[in-house]
Amino acid sequence: SFASKKYTIGFSQCGQRDNWRLKMEAEMERELLYHPDLSIIIKQALDDSKTQLEQIDELLNQDIDLLIVSPNEINPVQKAIEKVYKKGIPVILIDRRIDSDYYTAYIGGDNYEIGRFAAEYIGGKLDYKGNVLEIQGAMTMSAAVERSNGFNDALANYSKLKNVYKIHSFWNENILADSLPSGFNQHPDIKAIFAFNDDLASDAVDVLKKHTNYSDLVVVGVDGLATPKGGISMVENGTITATIIYPTGGKEAIQIASKILHNKPFNKNNLLPTVVIDKTNVKTTRLQYNHIETLQQDIDRSKNMLEKLEEQYQSQKTLLLIAVSL
Ligand code: FRU
Repeated sequence: SFASKKYTIGFSQCGQRDNWRLKMEAEMERELLYHPDLSIIIKQALDDSKTQLEQIDELLNQDIDLLIVSPNEINPVQKAIEKVYKKGIPVILIDRRIDSDYYTAYIGGDNYEIGRFAAEYIGGKLDYKGNVLEIQGAMTMSAAVERSNGFNDALANYSKLKNVYKIHSFWNENILADSLPSGFNQHPDIKAIFAFNDDLASDAVDVLKKHTNYSDLVVVGVDGLATPKGGISMVENGTITATIIYPTGGKEAIQIASKILHNKPFNKNNLLPTVVIDKTNVKTTRLQYNHIETLQQDIDRSKNMLEKLEEQYQSQKTLLLIAVSL
């Protein structure tokens, strides 16, 4: 590459390689093109806090200059993160938080706002009366806790809008096969579902298809990916009513990392805005995503061209050196 890599960033990714996490990593890689002095080592903990602890230690041993970490769960991972921070290595939390001040910066979508938006959206659809059901993610993870708080705080403003059934999940769908029908048996008048991500929302719809007439339910998910089975497609084809975009913060994390490493000013807490996508705005959203996609392809083409040019430059330099030394 053009410049020597001066700084190594370690990225401890909590999750499995789902599309949302892959998007985060792709955004990081793309942003890194503009920071030739930064390199990155990525480790994925596959939703296991113990693995993540070990991987954070491995990254420490690889002499990283900065750690970006999406903590799988608040408590188990906290100690490892504090250890890194106390060694004087800056720590950027992304997407999920820990319960301590020992970090340098946070970047992520506003999960509390996502919960609030879900409640307001469902309220609007139901004239602010009716029973709703909440399908949570793992409540040992900050993103899920914040989504639930935002959702229930907002519902509390409407006395006739009631959260009558909560299902706890580890973001894994299989538990819905039993828990969802039993929620509907106890409360046949449930009118809306807020699922903490689009995958859970789509699985809920699948389960309900087999059990009750779900057709006029309001189903809201989170993530809003533009992938073939992502939230945007599900809104387009009517599988779910709405999705709330959860930005990954991958690009911004690298930008903040660069600022920290170059002693430039940065904000400690960085919340990315979010938006509800339903059938009224999904078409515009799809067009925008398509446009972004072509821009990204252009960036990738520029990158390839630069790499080719550099190869040519290097081989010509070698030839020149040989010529000069003759
Ligand atoms: C992906 C994911 C997303 C969710 C986020 C919460 O691994 O489960 O679906 O929005 O993590 O941290």
